[in-house]
Amino acid sequence: MSSDHSDALVFFGATGDLVYKQIFPALQALARRGRLEVPVIGVAKSGWTLEQLQARARESLEKHGGVDEAAFAKLLSRLRYLDADYNDATTYDRLRELLGAAAHPAFYLAIPPSLFATVATGLGKSGCARGGRVILEKPFGRDLASARALNASLRAAFDDSAVFRIDHYLGKEPVQNLGVFRFENSLLEPVWNRDHVDCVQITMAESFGVQGRGAFYDGVGAIRDVVQNHLLQVVSLLGMEPPLTNYHDAIREEQVKVLRATRPLDVADLVRGQFTGYRTEEGVAPESTVETFAALRLHIDSWRWEGVPFFIRAGKKLPVTMTEVVVRFKRPPLSRIPRGDSNYIRLRLGPEVAIGIGARVKQPGEGNASVQTELDVVHYPDGDAMTPYERLLGDAMAGDPMLFATEEGVEAAWSIVEPILGNATALREYAPGTWGPEEAEALTEPYGGWFVDG
Ligand code: BG6
Repeated sequence: MSSDHSDALVFFGATGDLVYKQIFPALQALARRGRLEVPVIGVAKSGWTLEQLQARARESLEKHGGVDEAAFAKLLSRLRYLDADYNDATTYDRLRELLGAAAHPAFYLAIPPSLFATVATGLGKSGCARGGRVILEKPFGRDLASARALNASLRAAFDDSAVFRIDHYLGKEPVQNLGVFRFENSLLEPVWNRDHVDCVQITMAESFGVQGRGAFYDGVGAIRDVVQNHLLQVVSLLGMEPPLTNYHDAIREEQVKVLRATRPLDVADLVRGQFTGYRTEEGVAPESTVETFAALRLHIDSWRWEGVPFFIRAGKKLPVTMTEVVVRFKRPPLSRIPRGDSNYIRLRLGPEVAIGIGARVKQPGEGNASVQTELDVVHYPDGDAMTPYERLLGDAMAGDPMLFATEEGVEAAWSIVEPILGNATALREYAPGTWGPEEAEALTEPYGGWFVDG
């Protein structure tokens, strides 16, 4: 353990959903790999005892990934519980006492964003924040102004280098692979630009709906939920310039530059949809105009990408669940093949991981016509692979900021979507199980339409 490795982990929101679904499994996995050799303190205001939290941890693991008795025993031996009110200043004094000699505690805020500032301030005033780190998760604000306000309240208590903003997409292997694939394959660089790329398409399709999260989702919608964060991170990895060094700041700086070069969206670049039946979901307003689908066209004003549209579509209740990037290349000169039937690189980011290269080959028989084919590689997940939360929690405790969103990046991403938030465009209804409203087709039509597998 390096000298500034976190020597305690405190998680606020210990009895909540995020901890139940993601954090306990990540903690057990860290314990299994011997990466959780520090006290772990859960904080919540639920009137619980430590025994109740322990029982909840077991239940969480039974549902999410299974209990590994040896690792679980290790986790339990480190687990403490503080039942306390986040609004009460004495909570943080009690916490400071519980932390004992810990000099570099990590504080994970698994709480509603409306409480981020309160807890950060409490940690600052009590001295808990000194030498420590804070880990928090999107949404980082609801727009540019609230993101700036949040960043200001975090900065009042923590140095910026001590703030770890989780975007779980960055913790995914196939997302990290985007940068590796681009820069470790020298055949790509000469063609990865406006001279050869016709368009880039990113699809994040989910066949399910809001899954009981109606009340949360109805305050957010697809653009705030997944476009402003996960999908713009993907854009930044696809669009960035090669970093000058492998050092994390160099990589993150290049990512931010792409976002800064991306034009704020215009309403003409957006199609919003809502699936039929959304308004009767629990927690959703009966007249809700929140989008469950968004398709958009981004313009990156850089030398590399001038004139190459980056299309994004994301939605709930679509025909399948999958996230995929397709980089489509221009047709060869004098070609008679239709636009959209040219070479492409397909990077499937989930649920399974695959890379495909679209190529033309001779159609068997008389004549010289060509047909589309795909050379593909499918990687099945390795049973021992780290989940995004295990990776990110471990990295935050080790103080490695590479896979975390930056303040500048978050603000640049808000600047892109700011003009289209809310009811900036008409909302179109679509039937569950379809690819969203018909109008979404028109966006990519000049480029041969959205990529269709097979
Ligand atoms: C979350 C969104 O950030 O990402 C959810 O709030 C979405 O609405 C989820 O379903 C998708 O994550 P993944 O890892 O399953 O692609």
